[in-house]
Amino acid sequence: WNKIALIGAMNEEIELLLSHMQDVKETVKAGITFREGQYFGKNVVVCRTGVGKVNAAVTTQILIDHFAVQAVIFTGVAGALDPELNIGDIVVSRECLQHDMDVTALGFKRGVIPYEAKSVFEADAQLVEAAMASGERLFSGKMKKGVVLSGDQFVASRELVAQLHQELGGTCVEMEGASVAQVCSMNGIPYVVIRSMSDKADGSAHVNFAEFTVQASENSYKMVEDMVKHL
Ligand code: ADE
Repeated sequence: WNKIALIGAMNEEIELLLSHMQDVKETVKAGITFREGQYFGKNVVVCRTGVGKVNAAVTTQILIDHFAVQAVIFTGVAGALDPELNIGDIVVSRECLQHDMDVTALGFKRGVIPYEAKSVFEADAQLVEAAMASGERLFSGKMKKGVVLSGDQFVASRELVAQLHQELGGTCVEMEGASVAQVCSMNGIPYVVIRSMSDKADGSAHVNFAEFTVQASENSYKMVEDMVKHL
């Protein structure tokens, strides 16, 4: 891979990336600031997508069309759905899907995009293994390869957590990954999502999110740094 996109949704999720970049050239498109440059000897494009699936989709398509990135690595925080996961732990996407795609009224299963060949977007096996290898090298907490669910919704309810975990097999929930995954799939570009848990998507999620987002973002960042160094 000659050029890799390293992206996150919020400032906390990308500021460590930016602080390690060199020879930075900025371009603004669709209101998003894209920063091309060098990162540990690799050509990268770093940007903040903004929150939610539309922001992430638009940004990813621009990264592919205009910046010709050959792989996309998403770093950030998520709410844990798997009861074995605690705040700070890490999920590497085996696959992503949109939990708020709901055409159940027409008989489609929740999460299914009607009339499309695919609704579950598999991450690139090599990127997943590279992320898992980085975790084994440097992360002492729990790390799982799993199902990342995305929706335009901050999940903060135990009932919804149980439903998303049981019905859709979700390991964690966030607001961008599956949209990045779908755009990458539509364009034949490999991707992986790496998320550290800022909260457990329950009644305390808003408090935990505020308290732990910086630390969780750092956990996820360290994985990306080590991973890119070894790619
Ligand atoms: N990102 C971090 N925590 C989240 C949650 N509980 N729901 C959606 N996105 C999140």
